[in-house]
Amino acid sequence: MSANNSTSFYDYDILIIGSGAAGLTLALKSADFANVAVISKGQLSQGATYYAQGGIAAVLDDEDSIEAHIADTLDAGSGLCHLDMVSHVVENSGECVRWLVEQGVPFTTIAPEEAKNGPAREPLQPDNLAPLHLTQEGGHSHRRIIHATDATGRAVFETLAWRAANNSNITLYENRMAIDLITRNKLGLEGEQCVGAYIFNPQTGAVDVFRAKFVILATGGASKAYLFTTNPDGATGDGIAMAWRAGCRVANMEFNQFHPTCLYHPHAKSFLITEALRGEGAVLELPDGTRFMDKFDSRGELAPRDIVARAIDHEMKRLGCDCVYLNITHKPAEFITEHFPTIYSRCLKYGIDITKERIPVVPAAHYTCGGVMVNKQGRTDLPNLYAIGETSFTGLHGANRMASNSLLECFVLAFSASDDIRSKIATTSTPDEIPQWDESLVTRSNEEIIVAHNWDELRRFMWAYVGIVRKDERLQRARRRIQLLEQETTDYYKHYIVSKDLLELRNLVLVASLIVECAIHRKESRGLHYTLDYPELSPVAEDTVLIPTNYEQHSVHD
Ligand code: FAD
Ligand code: SIN
Repeated sequence: MSANNSTSFYDYDILIIGSGAAGLTLALKSADFANVAVISKGQLSQGATYYAQGGIAAVLDDEDSIEAHIADTLDAGSGLCHLDMVSHVVENSGECVRWLVEQGVPFTTIAPEEAKNGPAREPLQPDNLAPLHLTQEGGHSHRRIIHATDATGRAVFETLAWRAANNSNITLYENRMAIDLITRNKLGLEGEQCVGAYIFNPQTGAVDVFRAKFVILATGGASKAYLFTTNPDGATGDGIAMAWRAGCRVANMEFNQFHPTCLYHPHAKSFLITEALRGEGAVLELPDGTRFMDKFDSRGELAPRDIVARAIDHEMKRLGCDCVYLNITHKPAEFITEHFPTIYSRCLKYGIDITKERIPVVPAAHYTCGGVMVNKQGRTDLPNLYAIGETSFTGLHGANRMASNSLLECFVLAFSASDDIRSKIATTSTPDEIPQWDESLVTRSNEEIIVAHNWDELRRFMWAYVGIVRKDERLQRARRRIQLLEQETTDYYKHYIVSKDLLELRNLVLVASLIVECAIHRKESRGLHYTLDYPELSPVAEDTVLIPTNYEQHSVHD
């Protein structure tokens, strides 16, 4: 590291932006051949990974098969999944789980003789995954979800973060926010390649230069574009926005997934009630106690998410009620507290004893199925820039992600990207000089209220106009409002010193515009995109691919 005025310069082989499942896995897989920096815009734990509940889908049971997992994923994805990517991810699921067990993730196990008494904690051996307890979720035709009770993400995150913190080839930077990518083109050099990123340090107020041979976007999703979401605050689509500004194509942003069951309570912010609860028998009820899912799909509560979320939305609008209810009270109390300790204690905090009472739930924005277009190695359109995890669009999820396929995708693509980088690192170099961030034309703002107000406005109209059920007229309304916010935000960005809130708003406005453009483009209803103007499925299934004006074709996908 060297310092120049207030800017610091850092040099790494690999710069990973994001410390969730995708970023940490890639760091650990690459640390034996590269020196790696992982940056996170908040505390390391502040991504979606930490909050994942249900688990990780993987074929581990003799009764199950790779073919069945592939078929279920394709079915949930409504004709838009890319078969080669689905096969790649599903076929590698066993290897990823084995690696996670080796790292020490404390998955819930079940010893065969104790099967009737519920899960027990047994020490796991990577070569014997048989004792893992498998739960069930929507769209899956078998029990195939491995989990750590109902706090799988936390168990994965804590294990991987501990490993990374104790690896001398990995440096972890908390509270640093990537603003934009640095490319050879932008530096006026021949031979386009991503060579680093400008990183804002809110503590010093400086924008530092991180130079790297390879840059990885592992920045998670963009569900904060919506007023109600299960996601943590940082899910502002930064990686998608940075990649777009650097000339990468983005696809299928109209498919933002709404999780059917987020806790409905005035004091509960973004608390998910895992689908595994329905997998273990919980039923959805109207306020009067009537079950309704069978009216919408023969799989009932275990239909894919798009169907369940839309059914709830329909019933809430039909009855004018604020929420529906999830009921698991028919199960023994010990079963509930053992399988779902986090949900039990969190609901109890809000005065709801889930062993005796129904849980009030509503749908909320949950997962970004679209993102930065990548191939099986996680390569984007820009040489040496990779995107993995929720920020990417691989083609795995199609028009609707199946439960617990997301964490799996993070691991598999992190493995593939790491292998790809290993094969290229010896022949890759970076430019000698990268200029520091130019702040000569900006001043400090005394109008921060604009940022807060625009944040709020954006998320409200996205919820109202670009939500579970869409119409052309509403989408056009959203488009007009976004154009105004884009103008104001760009203007603000040009004139004032950056802050975390401003940078997030700038990204979120851009990502919202990509969501709306994709939604306007799709003239049919498919998976998560349902529009009253075109309620039918088109006979031809096509991705919505958006191309930025500065897009240049390179041979990175070969
Ligand atoms: P994240 O874990 O979201 O991490 C993103 C990282 O990027 C963070 O460290 C963040 O600080 C950093 N970052 C973002 N922008 C910047 C920037 N500009 N500069 C620096 N750092 C930045 N999926 C499943 O498969 N199974 C489940 O059971 C499951 N349950 C879920 C429950 C909840 C409540 C939620 C919200 C999601 C759930 N999902 C689940 C989805 C899954 O958790 C996420 O898709 C997955 O964890 C994403 O991992 P990631 O590594 O891509 O990103
Ligand atoms: C859940 O536990 O319901 C979330 C699972 C997922 O999003 O894959």
